[in-house]
Amino acid sequence: MISISLRKAVPEKTRTAALVVGVVGKGSDVRLASGGEGVAAAYGRSFPSTLKALKVKAKVGEVTKIPGGDAVSASVVVLVGLGDQDDVPLESLRRGVGSAVRSLAGASSVALTLPADTPERVRAIAEAIGLGGYAFTRYLSEHQTEPVGEAVILTGLARRRDARSAVEVGTTVAEAVNATRDMVNTPSNDLDPVSMADRIAELAKGGRVRVKVLDDAELERAGYGGILGVGKGSATPPRLVRLSYRPRGAKAHLGFVGKGITFDSGGLSLKPTSSMVTMKCDMSGAAAVVMATLAIAELRLPVRLTAYVSLAENMISGASTRPGDVLTMYGGKTVEVLNTDAEGRLVLADALVTASEDKPDLLVDVATLTGGCVVALGESITGVMSNDDGLLRSIPELAARAGEEMWPLPITDEVVERVKGSKIADLAQVSTKRAASASFAAAFLREFVADGIPWVHLDIAGPAFNANSPSGYTPKGGTGAAVRTLIQLATEHAE
Ligand code: BES
Ligand code: MN
Ligand code: ZN
Repeated sequence: MISISLRKAVPEKTRTAALVVGVVGKGSDVRLASGGEGVAAAYGRSFPSTLKALKVKAKVGEVTKIPGGDAVSASVVVLVGLGDQDDVPLESLRRGVGSAVRSLAGASSVALTLPADTPERVRAIAEAIGLGGYAFTRYLSEHQTEPVGEAVILTGLARRRDARSAVEVGTTVAEAVNATRDMVNTPSNDLDPVSMADRIAELAKGGRVRVKVLDDAELERAGYGGILGVGKGSATPPRLVRLSYRPRGAKAHLGFVGKGITFDSGGLSLKPTSSMVTMKCDMSGAAAVVMATLAIAELRLPVRLTAYVSLAENMISGASTRPGDVLTMYGGKTVEVLNTDAEGRLVLADALVTASEDKPDLLVDVATLTGGCVVALGESITGVMSNDDGLLRSIPELAARAGEEMWPLPITDEVVERVKGSKIADLAQVSTKRAASASFAAAFLREFVADGIPWVHLDIAGPAFNANSPSGYTPKGGTGAAVRTLIQLATEHAE
């Protein structure tokens, strides 16, 4: 990732390829944000009219580049919109920095003079530099879009320890998100359940997280009918990976579960091509859980953490699970499979039963689970469902503190009744009705969480993969959705 440092220096006299300055204000009434005072003065008295003539707007993330000329030592000055308030909200700061850094791919060095007067803001800037500078270039034989070489945050706090550790935390978080993006963007011919499990073990090697991989023979012996049923049609067998972090002085025990379908063809209930093209992203929940777990350990947060990721490929063959089959899940509950494309809940069910055995204080699962959640909340918001009303309300707020958008959805009596509506098995996997499919899936999952364990389900089907143009610090492709929220959760449980 881009190397990030802090420096206390005069912005207009700093030698750099590009100097990033914030713009705030309403409509055409804009001015430079705090940190930009010296730059405005260096351009002279005509600067406000220059901004007007260039039609510079303070819309968050809008970028205007002007030559440094004789006014400043930077070659270009990058004006970036930070919104209408002088007191710039953290998320506007992150999005603005993300856009600015993204627009500078190829620059050897960038300096930023922005509202960086608290460690919290310094962290936000560092995080956004890391996130905005992301590029997935592994499969390009030639690429012009080299990321930015190095970034310097100009701040009066440069020599303070809390500001330096803020940069470290921001960098660690951004690295975790970017590692998730890399894993999600890796195509399914290079990432199958076996290679993904190997990769997880490799990433954890030598660190503070212990990894245990259950292979298909072990899953068979222990009766993991959900994971095995979904993985049966693939040439690559499924895996269940357990990650465990047990620091001394842990304040709480968190449990994470992630959906890791390395490719979702739909199985015999085959998806149409248009819905299948992005389905390499169906392991985003697992990737988020793994990278967040490794980051939490790297940050040495004093929480115990046990994570499970169910890895399988949902494919078609003579061995595939059929609609109408009945599976016996880990723990003994039976499920009538009616649509092999609703595979996520089957692999998650096994993992939730296993995770419940550890009796965590809080259990969180992350999954690209339903198209219905995207219909309900759109492409950038995660659906939150829970067996606890307090968590249903507090998790979206916690996510917002981490810079992620989440919104509660209910588990109604109506969907619970439909889940229990199978005539030949304990539970129905899907219902014939399409209504409230995100909630139905959550009601199904809740059946596999042991009584008394507070549980939260995060449906990231919308935000996990950005098929549109990049914006702010969000690139095209894998986004790393939920990673920052999981780290935030551990951070707040450590306090
Ligand atoms: N992986 C998909 C959900 C998905 C959709 C993720 C769009 C990302 C973007 C999931 O396995 C699926 O196919 N869900 C079905 C369930 C249905 C058959 C009950 C869906 O939502 O259509
Ligand atoms: Mn599916
Ligand atoms: Zn899926």
